[in-house]
Amino acid sequence: MSKTILLKGQLLDFTGDPFAQPHEEVTLIETRGAVAIRGGEILDRGPADRLAAAYPDAQVEDHGDGLILPGFVDSHVHYPQTAMIASWGKRLIDWLNTYTFPEESRFADPEYAAEIASRYLDLTTAHGTTSMVSFCTIHSASVEAFFSEAAKRGQRVIGGRTCMDRNAPDSLRDTAQTAYDESKALLEKWHGQARISYAITPRFTPTSTPDQLAALGALWGEHPEVLMQTHLSEQTDEIQWVRELHPEARDYLDTYEAHGLLGENGLYGHAIHLEQREIDRLKEVNAALIHCPTSNCFIGSGLFDMQGLKREGLRVGLATDTGGGSDFSMLRTMAAAYEVAQLRHVALHPAQLLWLATAGSAGAVGMADRIGTLAPGSEADIIVLDLASTEAIAQRSRRANDLWEALFPTIMMGDDRALRAVWIGGRKALG
Ligand code: GUN
Ligand code: ZN
Repeated sequence: MSKTILLKGQLLDFTGDPFAQPHEEVTLIETRGAVAIRGGEILDRGPADRLAAAYPDAQVEDHGDGLILPGFVDSHVHYPQTAMIASWGKRLIDWLNTYTFPEESRFADPEYAAEIASRYLDLTTAHGTTSMVSFCTIHSASVEAFFSEAAKRGQRVIGGRTCMDRNAPDSLRDTAQTAYDESKALLEKWHGQARISYAITPRFTPTSTPDQLAALGALWGEHPEVLMQTHLSEQTDEIQWVRELHPEARDYLDTYEAHGLLGENGLYGHAIHLEQREIDRLKEVNAALIHCPTSNCFIGSGLFDMQGLKREGLRVGLATDTGGGSDFSMLRTMAAAYEVAQLRHVALHPAQLLWLATAGSAGAVGMADRIGTLAPGSEADIIVLDLASTEAIAQRSRRANDLWEALFPTIMMGDDRALRAVWIGGRKALG
């Protein structure tokens, strides 16, 4: 039987949504707290004294004033874009054609795919991201590489083969039939293996013909239990292009809905320039929107309406959108979410930012009972943050009057130096 481990430190976890209720009512804070884990599972969390008495034989790891949190959940990334992150000077469609498609073409080579999958998971672990939902490329080898590497590490990941059959280079185009066949084969092989889930992945309407959208909609109809991920209303030029390609559609979302690609298990990345009908339909089906604030600034896409959409009751996750996003760090992503909201005259509370990066993203991907939480019975994906990881941060957090004030400088100025320890599925991955 595996041993019990007791992680001691300051503890912060959520019991509800701080957008829906005052944060004081939905946060669990233990200044001297602990989490007990065994065999990849969280057994308990609470005051250190109580847990020490309950698990007297546990191996203790004391992190002092380090802040114990659930691992970050990044709900929209493109792991194949790791090596081209921070590419200069383009907007969405140009950026895809100039930087993204040439890089993604390289994933026909399984060795290159394996190298980048491993590099990507190393980098994200160093930043405290323990789960992510990734677009792969059109090559099944890119999905195999990502899932194989994640399985080796015991990591909970979601991913899918990115399907395109128009408006992309020859080397990155398939057909409606191959998109269906290869997605189905990967889904049947991987979904539910280890901690891996498949997501049906049409890139976006401009790169999938109606036949391909319909084929992937049909596959989703056969497997409604899996997630479907795509992009929606990211840039105004893109929306205009969709309008020209689909004059019959009421709006961008309608191009998905008409082909069976709208549903509760749908993840719609960006969703910045939505019309009211789209918001109403997304809400009716209880779909999830994924906010990618560093990407939306970097590619110049626009300001996501967090406050308005949360108030409407929509489910929202937070994501880096690596490599349209300009950083692997969910701390940096929270900072960008704060800044984007400020530009809309809304100050998001640190509790709301942290919730988005953990339980909020986990909820958006339908896994709130397993990840993004320290609740007993959930999976032992845990991080420990140093709230004084640089002198700039330390001198500010020393002035803090409460935990939120102590944490906010790390959200705004922190990076991988703030990560003291990372546990993935009960395995020590860093620290
Ligand atoms: N829209 C379609 N593909 C992509 C992509 O790879 N990144 C971003 N940010 N938007 C997209
Ligand atoms: Zn994306």
